[in-house]
Amino acid sequence: MLTSSFLNVFFLVLALVPSILSAPATSLTKDYYQKSCPDFSKIVRETVTTKQAQQPTTAAGTLRVFFHDCFLEGCDASVLVATNSFNKAERDDELNESLPGDAFDIVTRIKTALELSCPGVVSCADILAQSTRDLITIVGGPFYEVKLGRKDGFESKAHKVRGNIPTANHTVHDMMSIFKKNGFTLKEMVALSGGHTVGFAHCIEFSNRLFGPRADPELDSRYADRLKDLCKHYTVNKTMAAFLDPITPGKFDNMYFKNLKRGLGLLASDHALFKDNGTRPFVDLYADNQTAFFEDFARAMEKLGMVGVKGDKDGEVRRKCDHFNKLNV
Ligand code: HEM
Ligand SMILES: *[C@@H]1O[C@H](CO)[C@@H](O)[C@H](O)[C@H]1NC(C)=O
Ligand SMILES: *[C@@H]1O[C@H](CO)[C@@H](O)[C@H](O)[C@H]1NC(C)=O
Ligand SMILES: *[C@@H]1O[C@H](CO)[C@@H](O)[C@H](O)[C@H]1NC(C)=O
Ligand SMILES: *[C@@H]1O[C@H](CO)[C@@H](O)[C@H](O)[C@H]1NC(C)=O
Ligand SMILES: *[C@@H]1O[C@H](CO)[C@@H](O)[C@H](O)[C@H]1NC(C)=O
Repeated sequence: MLTSSFLNVFFLVLALVPSILSAPATSLTKDYYQKSCPDFSKIVRETVTTKQAQQPTTAAGTLRVFFHDCFLEGCDASVLVATNSFNKAERDDELNESLPGDAFDIVTRIKTALELSCPGVVSCADILAQSTRDLITIVGGPFYEVKLGRKDGFESKAHKVRGNIPTANHTVHDMMSIFKKNGFTLKEMVALSGGHTVGFAHCIEFSNRLFGPRADPELDSRYADRLKDLCKHYTVNKTMAAFLDPITPGKFDNMYFKNLKRGLGLLASDHALFKDNGTRPFVDLYADNQTAFFEDFARAMEKLGMVGVKGDKDGEVRRKCDHFNKLNV
């Protein structure tokens, strides 16, 4: 008797070991909502298509918000949570660098439509992941699979932003330590940075390359003149912003990498990818070969969407994307 129960336990342990080792904490699937919310894909696609036509900055804004979400606490919609009297949320850290309102709006629109169609089923984290992919394809970028089943996290803390999100004054080494923490290689970091082929940055993010003692001689001089003019009142008017890709700003392509080689990289951190010996070969590769960029970007985005995803044990499906279901958390 004793032996047999010992054996049972022994076999149980053996049976558990491989699943502990191989399965990620939460496994996502492509058709997670097939039965529970059959119109999920359609609703997301239609909503983002309408919104992107009305507001062409939506795609870039949403991509950036998705990136920030995944690098803080994993892709769990923590970035969408609003500050309340008990908690200052991620998105209100001063480093949120004015995360674009269009991205929050698109998630709200989709959530509203989904709550009518299949209430309480689809997580905000999945909405953000799927809408980002759809928006990237609308502006000309590569298609990739989005696996689903993420749950929304229980925490969103402004003080965790610093040190976990790269900033324009980072060196390649600084940036890499953040990407490495999230499981990315140097090459994947360069591919993901290609996201700067769309969208814009505020003058404050690159003004030190234009004015004063640290003006950057490696910035193309005609480009620098245009930026100086655009940003001449940036200390007063903080809304002034420039396209990250001045040549084809609305199109998802490999122009960002071509720009870097011609002194048309906007942020110091963009230009650093070209100056650094470790990252330059990848900049060259993607500047010469858009297919290679698209393939690597797509794969890296799939990987980005898996960072720190939450399951039923450590997450929920929020009723409203900017509030935890329970108050006071
Ligand atoms: C590699 C390190 C990175 C740094 C230092 C960085 C920094 C920045 C900064 C400073 C801005 C301007 C924000 C503003 O002024 O409003 C920006 C915008 C943006 N970033 Fe990054 N970023 C990095 C990586 C990424 C990645 C990996 C993605 C996505 C895959 C991404 C997507 C974007 C997009 C789409 C915008 C434009 C947002 C808009 O138009 O609203 N960035 N980034
Ligand atoms: C970003 O943070 C600032 C400062 O805390 C806040 O005023 C602003 O509303 C925040 N932006 C977003 C989009 O939440
Ligand atoms: C780097 O940039 C961030 C965000 O713009 C800013 O808060 C920080 O003070 C800067 N650090 C240095 C050393 O300039
Ligand atoms: C800042 O510049 C924008 C764009 O040119 C303009 O719409 C806005 O009125 C300006 N704001 C102030 C306070 O000057
Ligand atoms: C980069 O490579 C060049 C030429 O191979 C070399 O002269 C330079 O010192 C290197 N720079 C760094 C930062 O490693
Ligand atoms: C561009 O990259 C793709 C994908 O890696 C590869 O199949 C193709 O041969 C490359 N094209 C050139 C001209 O090198």
